[in-house]
Amino acid sequence: MQSAFQPVAALRVNDLKKDYGKNQAVKGVTFSVKPGEVFGLLGPNGAGKTSIISIIVTLEPATSGCVEIFGVDVAQQSRLAKTKVGWVPQEIINHGYFTVEEILKFISGFHGRRKNKDRIDYLLHRLSLWNHRNKKVKELSGGMKRRLMIGKALVHEPKLLLLDEPTAGVDLELRLSLWKFVEDLKKEGVSILLTTHYLEEAENICDRVAVLHHGELKKIGPTQELVQSLTSRMIRLHFKREIRPLKHPYLTLQNQMMAEFSLPSATGIGELLNDLQLDLRMLNDIQIIEGNLEDAFRFILEQQK
Ligand SMILES: Nc1ncnc2c1ncn2[C@@H]1O[C@H](COP(=O)(O)OP(=O)(O)O)[C@@H](O)[C@H]1O
Ligand SMILES: [Mg+2]
Repeated sequence: MQSAFQPVAALRVNDLKKDYGKNQAVKGVTFSVKPGEVFGLLGPNGAGKTSIISIIVTLEPATSGCVEIFGVDVAQQSRLAKTKVGWVPQEIINHGYFTVEEILKFISGFHGRRKNKDRIDYLLHRLSLWNHRNKKVKELSGGMKRRLMIGKALVHEPKLLLLDEPTAGVDLELRLSLWKFVEDLKKEGVSILLTTHYLEEAENICDRVAVLHHGELKKIGPTQELVQSLTSRMIRLHFKREIRPLKHPYLTLQNQMMAEFSLPSATGIGELLNDLQLDLRMLNDIQIIEGNLEDAFRFILEQQK
């Protein structure tokens, strides 16, 4: 039961399972997306990300388990649930005959909003499609088509946005403008669930992430906490001259002028230097390489082998 002080989750996925024949694509996945949060669903190809999204948007029925969008069960009240969610599919969809503006009007009408010019004009400007609004969709570049798909997902001002690999095959400039847009949407209070292969981007943009592997959730948590708990920091000490062989449990490599250590993220460099009892005047430089989400992701997948 929801307590009076806990806002209803933007998305709640509870013990969700999806079988395609004998293939168990999703094997009992549970997570929530909080209101106003950017949540990253990460995992290698075939992990089950798109299957979960397909169930959220009622494109596919769940085998068992349930999904709620702002407290609305998607299987029992699919029409109401659909008014609350916008979805940008992984595959680009082509609507050859229609213009950009016609498509947005059409989708808006589908959502019961026939007088939605302000919102459509806003999105055309915001997605840099204004000058292309009278072009047929088939005339658009790949990047423009993707921007149109984002516009389609947002015409009805949903409070939850699902982005399935929004930056796959998208050039750097568009990727950056897309992430900026995601940040703006977040500021407006939109909750976002995204899947992406670009872990560096996920690390920058996601408040929390979950790692899915073979249909099971392996880890979930605040992005920075996950990185810190699962990665080590690499410390390289560069010396002014050749030094004696060092002994330390975290030492991974030493040559004449350099020693490399792999420290648990919680360990400070002061502690290391103290342990080594080095004359600090011998140090020429200290290089610190912090672990990142990609390292954490790799570590989680390694553990599954
Ligand atoms: N419509 C479908 N019919 C049969 N199998 C499917 C279908 N969609 C996905 N799968 C299978 O389900 C598994 C998960 O796929 P998917 O959800 O697309 O993963 P991801 O999005 O993480 O790459 C894969 O083994 C895939 O082949
Ligand atoms: Mg997918």
